[in-house]
Amino acid sequence: MKHPIRSGLLATALLAFASSAALAQIQPWMDTSKSPEERAAAAVSAMTLDEKLGLVMGYTDPEQLVKEPDEVVSAQIKADVVAHHIKGSAGYIAGVPRLGIPAQWQTDASIGVRVAGMERTALPSSLATAASFDPKVTEMGGIMIANEARASGFNVFLAGGGNLAREPRNGRNFEYTGEDPVLTGEMTGGLIRGIQSRHMVSTMKHWAVNDQESQRTTVDARISKPAMRQSDLLAFELIYDLSSPGSAMCAYNLVNGDWACENDYLNNQVLKQDWGFKGYVMSDWGAVHSSSKAANNGLDQFTGYPCCGHHGAFFSAKTLKADIASGAIAMSRIDDMAQRILWPLFAKGVVDDPAKVGPIDFNASAAVAQTAAEQSLVLLKNENDLLPLAASAKTIAMIGGHADKGVIQGGGSSGVTPIGGNAVVGLEPKTWPGPVVYIPSSPVAAMKTVKPDATVTYISGDNIKQAAALAKKSDVAIVFVTQWMGEGIDNPLELPGNQDALVAAVVKANPKTIVVVESGGAILMPWANQVPAILEAFYPGSRGGAAIANILTGKVNPSGHLPISFPASNAQLAHAEIPGFHKPDGIKVSISYDEGAAIGYKWYDVKGFKPLFAFGHGLSYTQFNLTNLKAELAGSDVKVNFSVKNTGKVSGATAAQVYVSAEPAAGWEAPKRLGGFAKVKLEPGASKTVEVKIDPRLLATYDEATNSWVIKAGTYHLSLGEASDRLSTATDIQLPETRFSAVHAR
Ligand code: GLC
Repeated sequence: MKHPIRSGLLATALLAFASSAALAQIQPWMDTSKSPEERAAAAVSAMTLDEKLGLVMGYTDPEQLVKEPDEVVSAQIKADVVAHHIKGSAGYIAGVPRLGIPAQWQTDASIGVRVAGMERTALPSSLATAASFDPKVTEMGGIMIANEARASGFNVFLAGGGNLAREPRNGRNFEYTGEDPVLTGEMTGGLIRGIQSRHMVSTMKHWAVNDQESQRTTVDARISKPAMRQSDLLAFELIYDLSSPGSAMCAYNLVNGDWACENDYLNNQVLKQDWGFKGYVMSDWGAVHSSSKAANNGLDQFTGYPCCGHHGAFFSAKTLKADIASGAIAMSRIDDMAQRILWPLFAKGVVDDPAKVGPIDFNASAAVAQTAAEQSLVLLKNENDLLPLAASAKTIAMIGGHADKGVIQGGGSSGVTPIGGNAVVGLEPKTWPGPVVYIPSSPVAAMKTVKPDATVTYISGDNIKQAAALAKKSDVAIVFVTQWMGEGIDNPLELPGNQDALVAAVVKANPKTIVVVESGGAILMPWANQVPAILEAFYPGSRGGAAIANILTGKVNPSGHLPISFPASNAQLAHAEIPGFHKPDGIKVSISYDEGAAIGYKWYDVKGFKPLFAFGHGLSYTQFNLTNLKAELAGSDVKVNFSVKNTGKVSGATAAQVYVSAEPAAGWEAPKRLGGFAKVKLEPGASKTVEVKIDPRLLATYDEATNSWVIKAGTYHLSLGEASDRLSTATDIQLPETRFSAVHAR
């Protein structure tokens, strides 16, 4: 007697196999046994010209789109966008239903799903999670936001901010992962890996040298190719190596006189030829300035039409057909564009595991956001162990920063609509890149929960005298200072408003004052010498209030380390002025990055400056001992081993950092470079041996004439510590002259 269920299953399985085998015959691109390259090529070969051209132009904002003339955007495309674009989202590109190729639904951005009116979970800012110095933190974050994105109907994430914080006043530093290429490679790489592990395409952006927001759509960033390769491009190269992003988003600005989205050097020579990038270059929204020049210089997809001050529908079917007819664009290039767009749809699982709208476990998401924040907040100063708050602290004044309502978030295209909505409405700017959003995660409410035995009193700080009076009669005072940042705007390092005066008055009234900083990046702290304890929270995300309270009370031991140097004054900046700063958009400006690859701590080392707080700095409620540093050549890498011991009384984690120095003959941009790091968590008294590998590019300089990296023979000095200015042990290694091509092995 045949088992009814088993034989039914067998029949189903056979049918499925037969149908997939049959399907693979009819649509070989659906054959999962083939490589993504083979599948993409097979699909393109089955496409009509119109279907190929349908892939290379993306749309947004249907209300504006329908006003476009039919000869620019056909009625059929308009109808499809109106029917399928997810309202309030970044972009949509039609699929090819005839061939089973899905549409592309694009959402911003690196901290979570950003769709007007769609409440979703916000990770801490990318700069905040970079401070965890733990790629697992950003990978887990990427998985969480991708789960929310897929359940919201999206399959392309416009995430992966990888621009270096070359300019500390850059208004989008909060969306990026700091000033160092190794840290950025690991942390942004982790985010992209997490996102793509959930069968979405992620970008890496903004390609490249998009290092200021002032005049971002017209600024010409001028930098030598070796300096670019050893800094901004090295960050992207490490991201690329560590995460294989399906797409790169070319930036608004020019690089050495050519728009980034029609820049042969960036898109063809570096990304596609040297690195072997198989995915596609998509434009930033409105960043396209030509059709054939852009297509021939590496742009594969014009995205987000008609948003953002575009210069024309350069990749419309009509325009491209004319370019093909005139020979301005070869048909082979059109096929290559289509193939590059399809490659990640196959390679990252978008075709085989399509996104489906469904429920979201927001509690699970929030727990990921809280864990990320708790591993990222940076304890900058803690004199006389004022933190964690003593049990004897029975009256706690909490002042300013709308701490009774929530925590601040950055503005612009990365801004998530928080669950529960904006906790503080009506703050300026109310329009783009505003509104200013506070996520409803109140540090005050969290503190009351964690310390029910204490009397916690909040005051806004608008009236400094009243705030000082409350501080004076309290056991401790906690002042929250905030610095809002938004896309398209750069910021002075000074705190806005009278926050510096507020801090000065409060710490004068009560020496037991703690300052919690919610900033987009580095800020100046004229009160830093007077304040005994400072916690940098950056933009701490959906459970930021809870994370702040847990760290202040010692429920969580802080373990963040600075991904960006905090200057002691504006005099320490590489550029006194930002061209076009706070001027109306559209002014043609250029900036010569004469500091080259000497960004952040490298700049401070070159100039002999002492920053207020150094790159990699971060304190703990316990102490660590880093010893036994050993180094050896392992193939092309330098392998480093060392021991870390928790010599304190509570469990904790530290970011062990290995820096490398070369002899002057090596021609490096600065005395030392971060070679590698590891986040090490230990129970009190425990120790462990750690291994870090240093990529050979971190030991080399880039030689433009031969398009190769060169490691000069000589003595290389390795130093180990918990901050770039706190290095406790060192060793040397002799390296032979080594030269290797900048072209990646295929
Ligand atoms: C914006 C941003 C980019 C974003 C895109 C879509 O202008 O520069 O980061 O992904 O447009 O919103």
